[in-house]
Amino acid sequence: MSENTFSAISQFRLDKEVALITGSGDGLGRIAALTFGEASAHVCVSDIDMPLAEKVVREIEDAGGSADAWHLDVADNEQIVRVIAEVVGKHKQIDILVNNAGTAQREPTEDMPLEVWDKIVQINQTQVFMCSREAGQHMLKEKKGSIINMASIMGLVGGGFYPNFPYHATKGAVVNMTRALAAEWAAHGVRVNAIAPTFVKTNLTIPLRSNETLSRIAIERTPMGRFAEPEELAGAFLFLASSASSMVTGHILAVDGGWTAI
Ligand SMILES: NC(=O)c1ccc[n+]([C@@H]2O[C@H](COP(=O)([O-])OP(=O)(O)OC[C@H]3O[C@@H](n4cnc5c(N)ncnc54)[C@H](O)[C@@H]3O)[C@@H](O)[C@H]2O)c1
Repeated sequence: MSENTFSAISQFRLDKEVALITGSGDGLGRIAALTFGEASAHVCVSDIDMPLAEKVVREIEDAGGSADAWHLDVADNEQIVRVIAEVVGKHKQIDILVNNAGTAQREPTEDMPLEVWDKIVQINQTQVFMCSREAGQHMLKEKKGSIINMASIMGLVGGGFYPNFPYHATKGAVVNMTRALAAEWAAHGVRVNAIAPTFVKTNLTIPLRSNETLSRIAIERTPMGRFAEPEELAGAFLFLASSASSMVTGHILAVDGGWTAI
């Protein structure tokens, strides 16, 4: 790039890119979808809840962007294979994948049925493999792609607030899956990074935020002394999706108000 054509802001644009985000009808996935739409990507908004996905599509279109809605339940591996093939069939490309959908079921490990463990491993971890494999095949062919995995600060530490073992286990796995896949695909033009947020004000954290004691402990433990707003994840999504991070792969970007700094 010559000095004359250098523009830092243009590195964040996503013109002519196609992005697929799992679980993007609400919460952090919705923020990723709105962000990519504003940066001019075509956004495939996928969710288990079609009315929510369609609402996000309307939000993107009302803001002048381009999007379509897809029913994708990441608990269903066959659906993952089919829907990603359909996305590529329709749009002929897939440049950005956000493995965002995730879940938690907070209960003591000693009483946890195997079915609960299996469900959380599927939704939080196996889908990351399945979606990355399916989208990755196209990205590798094009020698271009950015995959963003939603990890958590709870993938970097062991928790301690309340029992949430499968969540911590799967988010820890997502952290190292990010590094391992980044290493495998780095030379082939496909970057793989993760975001590790602190507690964000979405539906997922209602049980924590509605518990006065847990809320106080979490806030006191956070150097910035507060929960994150969903919109505060937008910069991390855009940085990792765009060529602004073209030399960044295998990175776990903590958006955590300093949680992991102490
Ligand atoms: N909110 C937080 O504090 C926080 C912190 C760290 C990491 N994360 C991670 O960020 C991701 C998004 O979390 P969130 O807080 O936005 O969650 P959320 O519960 O607010 O939203 C989840 C979205 O995923 C959809 N969804 C649920 N099950 C699905 C399935 N099986 N297939 C497809 N879509 C499904 C829901 O309909 C909803 O639109 C998760 O992986 C979560 O673990 C969240």
